[in-house]
Amino acid sequence: MNNPNEKQLAGEAALRYVEDGAIVGVGTGSTVAFFIDALAGMKDRIKGAVSSSEQSTARMKQHGIEVFDLNATGPIGIYIDGADECDPHKRLIKGGGAALTREKIVAAAAQKFVCIIDSSKRVDVLGKFPLPIEVIPMARSLVSREIVKLGGQPVWRDGVTTDNGNWIIDVHGWRITDPVGLEQQLNQLAGVVTVGLFAQRPADVVLVGDKEI
Ligand code: 5RP
Repeated sequence: MNNPNEKQLAGEAALRYVEDGAIVGVGTGSTVAFFIDALAGMKDRIKGAVSSSEQSTARMKQHGIEVFDLNATGPIGIYIDGADECDPHKRLIKGGGAALTREKIVAAAAQKFVCIIDSSKRVDVLGKFPLPIEVIPMARSLVSREIVKLGGQPVWRDGVTTDNGNWIIDVHGWRITDPVGLEQQLNQLAGVVTVGLFAQRPADVVLVGDKEI
């Protein structure tokens, strides 16, 4: 079960990694919402943020935090984001909030990725949480058939369109013992935009509540 107290502790503890003058990469979700609210308290000490979703952009703007286009910033020092699952190697499943593509882009641009979670997200092997995959809409059935061949059960997240105008397939029934290999394999499928596995680029630091693991 998700633990809102631990999410708040993690969101607030992540401020420890934010340096004065930084442009901060900001993820998406309820844990990140706590981080954004905490970041507002030091907004005069940072340059601003790069956002991974319209949702996070709106929350930051409400707080008066300046949001930059990633094309205007170049590499960024720090990225703070939540996750749906985290294994002992800091490899993640993300995309429960459908923001996985921009999250992966900002994570790739960041020198350090600090992942903030509550203890319910820790697993030994990824895959209990259905793996989100963002697809070009016309490729939904094609990608789903390929996933069935790979032993997964694809379920279309009907009614959800991502910030990029695409759709999400959630894959059930995979016990992901080789997340790097599966991420590479799925990335090859025509029509796949982004796989919600963050294994090739895992987190650098994981905070469970206010404790670094
Ligand atoms: C959004 C994500 C989120 O980080 C993930 O779903 C965790 O969300 P929450 O902090 O609300 O539990 O990947 O695409």
